[in-house]
Amino acid sequence: MRAWALLTAAVLPLVAAQANGDINLGISAIEAHFNQSHIVPDFLSTFEPKGLLDVNFGVYLNIVTGTGNIQPGQKFTKDEVGSAPTLTVHSPTTLNGQYVLAMLDADVPGAKLPQGTNRHWLVYNVTVGQDSTISNATGTAISRYFGPGPAAGSGPHRYVILVYSQPSGFAAPAEFSQPEQPVAPMDWSAFVTNSHLGDLIAANYIQVEEGTATASLLSTVPVVTSTLAVSSTASGSAPASSATSPSGNQSNGSGSLSIRVPIVMGLVALPAYFLA
Ligand SMILES: *[C@@H]1O[C@H](CO)[C@@H](O)[C@H](O)[C@H]1NC(C)=O
Ligand SMILES: *[C@@H]1O[C@H](CO)[C@@H](O)[C@H](O)[C@H]1NC(C)=O
Ligand SMILES: *[C@@H]1O[C@H](CO)[C@@H](O)[C@H](O)[C@H]1NC(C)=O
Ligand SMILES: *[C@@H]1O[C@H](CO)[C@@H](O)[C@H](O)[C@H]1NC(C)=O
Ligand SMILES: *[C@@H]1O[C@H](CO)[C@@H](O)[C@H](O)[C@H]1NC(C)=O
Repeated sequence: MRAWALLTAAVLPLVAAQANGDINLGISAIEAHFNQSHIVPDFLSTFEPKGLLDVNFGVYLNIVTGTGNIQPGQKFTKDEVGSAPTLTVHSPTTLNGQYVLAMLDADVPGAKLPQGTNRHWLVYNVTVGQDSTISNATGTAISRYFGPGPAAGSGPHRYVILVYSQPSGFAAPAEFSQPEQPVAPMDWSAFVTNSHLGDLIAANYIQVEEGTATASLLSTVPVVTSTLAVSSTASGSAPASSATSPSGNQSNGSGSLSIRVPIVMGLVALPAYFLA
């Protein structure tokens, strides 16, 4: 018993360091996904999240992770994402404050970004539980979750889900202080500025398309792991190798991102951030 306790005490700090290293690697990967999907700079001018956002619509099993967490940019039908997802945040930072949760459609047809983004979800006062799950039990829903409903033929829409630190004394602009508002256009960056929101803690995104695209698709290039800047202890990770067209001709890279998963991932499995 005693020996086991000592062993556990010795091992736990290593586990924590390993987990944080994996989170830092995951953060670099999600930053790369946001760059290459053009969410940065189309929708966010910069993106330096403090953690990772797991999004689970309960309709999909990732065979790599054995969980229902989405892969960044994963494509869904609107039926699959018609109900609010479960959200989980993993961060080396303690998350015991209050947060603002939102989902925006970054691809309203014909709209001039960022003013033309559509609000699909906006909740103030959400919290993060001991189990890292985001709770809206104490939340104030300015807009309840409205599932994606892109216009037919308008191409794939990027729906970005975001969690910001909510400052103490937070006061939303008057037009965003009344609950139960429907889906509507919203200039997200102006809102973030005017509400004095704190750090963008974590974000993720999905894509939903209705019908056959008549608009041109986004052009992206593969995520290359060797270019990811990992700030700290990603020890145990195998040398990063570049992902050069693993699945054939990606010269026009129609929406696909690819990346190699390091062989040793430690105890926290994060490959969902590396495969898309
Ligand atoms: C994303 O783009 C920004 C600026 O364009 C760059 O500074 C950053 O290193 C990029 N991050 C990744 C992970 O590619
Ligand atoms: C957040 O919750 C506190 C109580 O914990 C409440 O006083 C405050 O009005 C709420 N803020 C918003 C924006 O809902
Ligand atoms: C609160 O979270 C639950 C569970 O994820 C979800 O079903 C519900 O729609 C959410 N409420 C609001 C107002 O977003
Ligand atoms: C890849 O596609 C481009 C056109 O986009 C074509 O010119 C090139 O030959 C293709 N390469 C291979 C290996 O198929
Ligand atoms: C380029 O993307 C289009 C879809 O936008 C696809 O039909 C075409 O086959 C792709 N070409 C190559 C060379 O990958």
